[in-house]
Amino acid sequence: MPLVTSKEMLFAALENHFAVGAFNANNMEQIQGVIEAAQEERSPVILQVSQGAIRYAGLELAAGMVKIVAELVDIPVVLHLDHGRDFDQNIRCLRAGFTSLMFDGSKLPFEENVATTKRVCHIAHVVGIPVEAELGKVGQSKDKLTKEQVRAMMTDPHQAREFVERTGCDSLAVAVGSVHAMKTQGAILDIELLEAIRQEIPDIPLVLHGSSGVKTESFLEAIPHGICKINVATYLNQGFIKGMREGLQKYADSTDPRKALAMSRENVKERVREKMRLFGSSGVIDSSGGFRSPPKQFRSAELGAAE
Ligand code: G3H
Ligand code: ZN
Repeated sequence: MPLVTSKEMLFAALENHFAVGAFNANNMEQIQGVIEAAQEERSPVILQVSQGAIRYAGLELAAGMVKIVAELVDIPVVLHLDHGRDFDQNIRCLRAGFTSLMFDGSKLPFEENVATTKRVCHIAHVVGIPVEAELGKVGQSKDKLTKEQVRAMMTDPHQAREFVERTGCDSLAVAVGSVHAMKTQGAILDIELLEAIRQEIPDIPLVLHGSSGVKTESFLEAIPHGICKINVATYLNQGFIKGMREGLQKYADSTDPRKALAMSRENVKERVREKMRLFGSSGVIDSSGGFRSPPKQFRSAELGAAE
């Protein structure tokens, strides 16, 4: 089916206590792995294009591949810009057919973050495209941050309310203890802080970045507290590389790159399926491509009514 926007998807997640996986993809095999997983799991999915993917594949090619694969399946697919770097890039993505944008002004002073986020929202909303913004900073594991440094960058709940009111953003990426690009799953989220943020902005879907390093229990706790979109990149890249290594060994004498790449694609698919089940998004799409009605209370039921 044609691409959809992230608006309905994230509100369905907010209402029904599941989260939509937002998976980064840099090439055809990664995109295929993600889409095949979503189709088999009957799950909505967000395919997102990072700054690195834009440098590697180019904006139009990255967008074009996602649009084509979305047409081949009957589950809702969103094409999202990840960590949009400035106003101009967001506008280029709007023109290229992205159905969800992000302006990441988290490194800017508060007032500058507000001003540019507001500008992006204004233009995107004219054509019905939702915008994710970021407040607080989700750090990078290469910076070897201490616990205190991670804490110091976390989102302030009162500021979050002011930010959302002034910008009109549709979803908000929050810093609650995760760090980008961790290679093992050791991060524990601050659920109390997350709940304090949710109390301030109960109607705004919250987004978790740096999710490859988050412990399974933390995801399960965070979803009933408003996390509706979970970004996963490193964990999929690890699976892709593992598949390539194994494929190159297994087919050491072959000149056919597809043999190793197919193993990579399969690994990505399996990892995405695992996350979709964990996030509670598996099975929420019915056979006609819509959200099941009446909505199934996925996570809250499984978790013993966490609210
Ligand atoms: O924006 C993308 C993500 O936040 C991915 O983070 O590589 O730690 O999974 P990750
Ligand atoms: Zn991120």
